Amino acid sequence: MQNQIDLVTFGPEHLDEAVALSRSESWPHRREDWAMVQKLSAGVVATNSDGRVTGTTFMTPFGNDYATINMVIVDKSMRGLGLGRKLMERAFELAGKRPLRLIATKEGLPLYEKLGFIATGTIRQHQGEVHAVERPQGVEDMQAGDVEAVRALDREACGADRSALLDALLERGRIAVVRKGDAIEAWAAIRPFGRGEVIGPVIAPDAKTACALIAYFACSREGSFLRVDTGSETGLAPWLSEIGLAHVGGGVTMRRPLTEDAGEPQHKIFALVSQALG
Ligand SMILES: CC(C)(COP(=O)(O)OP(=O)(O)OC[C@H]1O[C@@H](n2cnc3c(N)ncnc32)[C@H](O)[C@@H]1OP(=O)(O)O)[C@@H](O)C(=O)NCCC(=O)NCCS
Repeated sequence: MQNQIDLVTFGPEHLDEAVALSRSESWPHRREDWAMVQKLSAGVVATNSDGRVTGTTFMTPFGNDYATINMVIVDKSMRGLGLGRKLMERAFELAGKRPLRLIATKEGLPLYEKLGFIATGTIRQHQGEVHAVERPQGVEDMQAGDVEAVRALDREACGADRSALLDALLERGRIAVVRKGDAIEAWAAIRPFGRGEVIGPVIAPDAKTACALIAYFACSREGSFLRVDTGSETGLAPWLSEIGLAHVGGGVTMRRPLTEDAGEPQHKIFALVSQALG
């Protein structure tokens, strides 16, 4: 069975079957959501002798600072045969020397532990039809001249160059900012994703400012489906639940090798772009 499997470069021609694979896992990704990850990543698909896609994975580089491994799925009929491990090994080759990060599902955790990933925390997925939320003070839409300041804040918060990711967010969604004098002290993005829209990243100096950014988008969307993926340590969970975004699951953040972040950044990541991209 395994001998009939080929690993080939993930191309646009594989998107439809990839969507079918993620649907069968009840993941909400639309074709556009896969396409965004594909544009930012190097990917591998496993195909069987009929050319059918039976497995996927992407390696998304953030400069040379680190890479995330994501969208690791093996068709249910092909599990337990070593295909997940093979896809991961190919992703390691694509990543070169970059340290690796991922967010593991319960099903993926044993495979990643075997491959040397170490758990560093947990992510909570909150989503639902948002309640009425008051419009916050001091948050506004980003202006064209703010792009460099937004990039700089992102780089400080995550210690990596995520320029390509920010360009993709600007193409697909909207960014809001909080100013302090002439500087930008916090920002957040919203874009269509899955069943509705996702708010993330949210980068702010404190939880209060992070909630204001989320409220800025939520206040014009009463009754609409919103999703926020937040670290368990951010403290945002009770408020997210209060505004109608229930805790529905999550994942385990993992690194390989276990690297420490350089110092405590002044601005923190309060919500992820996605579980795939971090
Ligand atoms: C996670 C997943 C990709 C694993 O794929 P797979 O092809 O079945 O994995 P492999 O057969 O290559 O297993 C690799 C190793 O992990 C172990 N492993 C895999 N799944 C395991 C499980 N649920 N429990 C215990 N061990 C497991 C295997 O025993 C194997 O060990 P070995 O190489 O030492 O023999 C697959 O279960 C899947 O697609 N799940 C649904 C989607 C998902 O959650 N993906 C993870 C996203 S983060």
